[in-house]
Amino acid sequence: MENEKTLLYVSNVSKFFQITGGVGRKRKYVRAVDSVSFSLNEGETLGVVGETGCGKTTLGRSILQLIKPTSGDVFIDLPDDIMREVMEIDRRLSLFSEEDMESDEYIDLKDRFEEIAREYSLTRMSGRKLKEYRKLMQPVFQDPFSSLDPRKLIKDSIAEPMKLLTDMNQNEIMDKEISLISEIGLSEDHLYRFPHEFSGGQRQRIGIARAISIEPKLLVLDEPTSALDVSVQAQILNILKDLQNSRGISYVFISHHLSVIRMMADRVAVMYLGKMVELAETEELFTDMLHPYTKALLSAIPIPDPSIKRERIVLEGEIPSPANPPKGCYFHPRCPVAMKNCGWSPRDLINPIKEMLDPYRNQEASSLPEIVEIVSDEEENVIELVFKEGQEFDRDTVKEQIHSMVLKEASKKGGVKYSAIESLEYSEEGTLIISLIQWDTPKMREPRKGHMVSCLLYDYNYYDESKRVNEDASKSAKTKINF
Ligand SMILES: Nc1ncnc2c1ncn2[C@@H]1O[C@H](COP(=O)(O)OP(=O)(O)O)[C@@H](O)[C@H]1O
Ligand code: SF4
Ligand SMILES: [Mg+2]
Repeated sequence: MENEKTLLYVSNVSKFFQITGGVGRKRKYVRAVDSVSFSLNEGETLGVVGETGCGKTTLGRSILQLIKPTSGDVFIDLPDDIMREVMEIDRRLSLFSEEDMESDEYIDLKDRFEEIAREYSLTRMSGRKLKEYRKLMQPVFQDPFSSLDPRKLIKDSIAEPMKLLTDMNQNEIMDKEISLISEIGLSEDHLYRFPHEFSGGQRQRIGIARAISIEPKLLVLDEPTSALDVSVQAQILNILKDLQNSRGISYVFISHHLSVIRMMADRVAVMYLGKMVELAETEELFTDMLHPYTKALLSAIPIPDPSIKRERIVLEGEIPSPANPPKGCYFHPRCPVAMKNCGWSPRDLINPIKEMLDPYRNQEASSLPEIVEIVSDEEENVIELVFKEGQEFDRDTVKEQIHSMVLKEASKKGGVKYSAIESLEYSEEGTLIISLIQWDTPKMREPRKGHMVSCLLYDYNYYDESKRVNEDASKSAKTKINF
């Protein structure tokens, strides 16, 4: 059923939740969804995968306008020419470097984007106008029990969206319910029962009937089968496929189950710490993924053919907190192929440097003058070593010794963070300042047609390519990733 008409376009949507615990006036935010963009065609299914906490649910709710995004725009069912225009403007805007953002061309594009967004973006609408658009989309949640009122008959629960969002009368609603209930494989008398009388799978069928009752163009399905037994899961997935075939509905299908995603999705988006890191057609993503995180995530799936050997990539370290994400590429602290410009900042290096300079842990450090304090300064991007006062030592020798220790660490496995150290210089106060290089932040790029990835290995600017989609760039990048 999939066709080429774009139904939904999500443009740089972010949702930051304010959290308590910020000191003084400094508010703290969880960056649950961080500047996510994608499009979805009519009749298409976009799978959204990623570990728990990466922002899948928040993204789904932001699209549905169940929560107001902090920034960004959501466009659905626009006139064709406007939809094409807004997507093309966004694509062109994303290619501007920061220096070029003051150019007339950029400002003109931005103005036109704003003009369209003010008229059409759901995130800027309210009241009656938003209600009209709400009819076009419905959620299906993981636990239909929470969306079905335990005290209401099934017929009343299914009727709710029709009553709320359409002007159908009682009889029309009842007729619709009878046809829906058989479409999802239950019978008319089920309408006169209460939710607790149904199994999990049946409840999810009811949840689906309710969602499609107003004939939406888009369903956002958030882990719709994750709470169900495997055999029941398959039934629900089949029902969803049938409904999509008969009605041409588009799905945003959120799941952390990779096998379910592979079965259901036409294209797949991978999220990490609130950001979309890769987006490609399903088969291409599963067989020829580009992003190091996707490689690690998919390496966990067992391959049925024992003749194919694939090493499971075990990621080291915890998922960082989205309240305090790493600098540069959010994945750099765990990335097996991170480079020196991927985002290393003092917070990554402070403890390793403390260890390196601790004479109890590192024999080499015992000949250094005594260090009383090691301070990291994220803003200045430096780490400062404070020597005990009154010691006599040859500054150049000490600097040289620390430099050679750094080089040695950098050459060890996992030592790439040390290669982000750019210089060692004494301050006027006699402390030794360890300065780090300025990191780069990857942007979504399209190294292959229809295959988007956010990783510096594929960044045109990083490669200094002529800023155009280039097959060679992805080839040379691929040989660099070697695991
Ligand atoms: N209402 C909220 N207030 C504060 N933080 C939230 C809220 N909802 C979600 N979060 C945080 O946002 C991040 C993304 O959560 P979520 O969208 O539920 O991820 P997922 O569905 O991928 O598991 C998590 O760190 C979560 O703790
Ligand atoms: S930009 Fe790419 S290579 Fe660098 S840390 Fe991120 S994922 Fe790894
Ligand atoms: Mg979730």
